[in-house]
Amino acid sequence: MELRHLRYFVAVAEERNFTRAAQRLNMAQPPLSRQIQQLEEILEVQLFQRDSRPLKLTETGKFFYAHAVQLLAQTSELESMTRRVGNIERSLSVGFVGSTLYGMLPKIIRRFRDENTTVELSLHEMSTMDQIRALKDGQIDVGFGRIRHEDANIRRVILREEKMIVAFPEGHALSLGKPVLALSDLVNETLIIFPKAPRPSYADQVLSAFADRGLKPRRIYEVRELQIALGLVAAGEGISVVPSSVYGLKRDDVSYKELDDPTLVSPIIMSTRMLDESPDLRELLELIYRLYEEERVPYAPRNDAGR
Ligand code: BEZ
Repeated sequence: MELRHLRYFVAVAEERNFTRAAQRLNMAQPPLSRQIQQLEEILEVQLFQRDSRPLKLTETGKFFYAHAVQLLAQTSELESMTRRVGNIERSLSVGFVGSTLYGMLPKIIRRFRDENTTVELSLHEMSTMDQIRALKDGQIDVGFGRIRHEDANIRRVILREEKMIVAFPEGHALSLGKPVLALSDLVNETLIIFPKAPRPSYADQVLSAFADRGLKPRRIYEVRELQIALGLVAAGEGISVVPSSVYGLKRDDVSYKELDDPTLVSPIIMSTRMLDESPDLRELLELIYRLYEEERVPYAPRNDAGR
């Protein structure tokens, strides 16, 4: 039995008339009648009641019709899914934590769109932990976050370790003194951290940096996001330890200082589903390394072997 037999049978069963079915199928009536006869011979059953006007299905014919309709629907679904896998319809859904917007993310997205015009790319702001869940649910295809979270189903590539720097209100005594500061210089200040939720987040990386060195800031002020932290720094509410890409924001009312310890870093991590070998993801990763080379951005030793 061939797929065409199913199409012909379904058309006749639905039209209940050979002439109309033949018109619907754009064919002559005699070959259509022969195909239905052939189908009954192959199955060794009678599908239509003899000499009924309009045509009526037998009980066997009704059973066959219900399954034939399903099979044809599955066939067209298979057609569209295969087109998608075959890259006729391509899409890439990207999750990112807000702070990566101050780094290379905008350039990466623009370049990817320019070079891959047939890929429909969508962006979704979400925490690193939400990215892991969204990857597993199939809501995103790739996530850019900062938390080193182990999961057997997720592949992580550490792209680079971004230095932490300190943001001060313009004119703050510490911003006018030594060119490079130690974390211990900051303990008498109010430390503004972000994001307050969900946790763990970049806020915990900053808190761990102090705790690991046996230091405790005088006061902690938790806020929702980086832009609010910088606004409060500008207002003189405290200081904030931020990823160095924030330096590019160049606000008149905020000044930045480097820290003396090279281990004070926050990683940028690309996460994907462990088994996803999509060429679009490979292309995205290669594009990121190309941009790092072009812009002379120091990156972590490549740990993406086998991608
Ligand atoms: C980066 O700043 O290096 C970066 C940000 C987002 C995605 C990938 C890389």
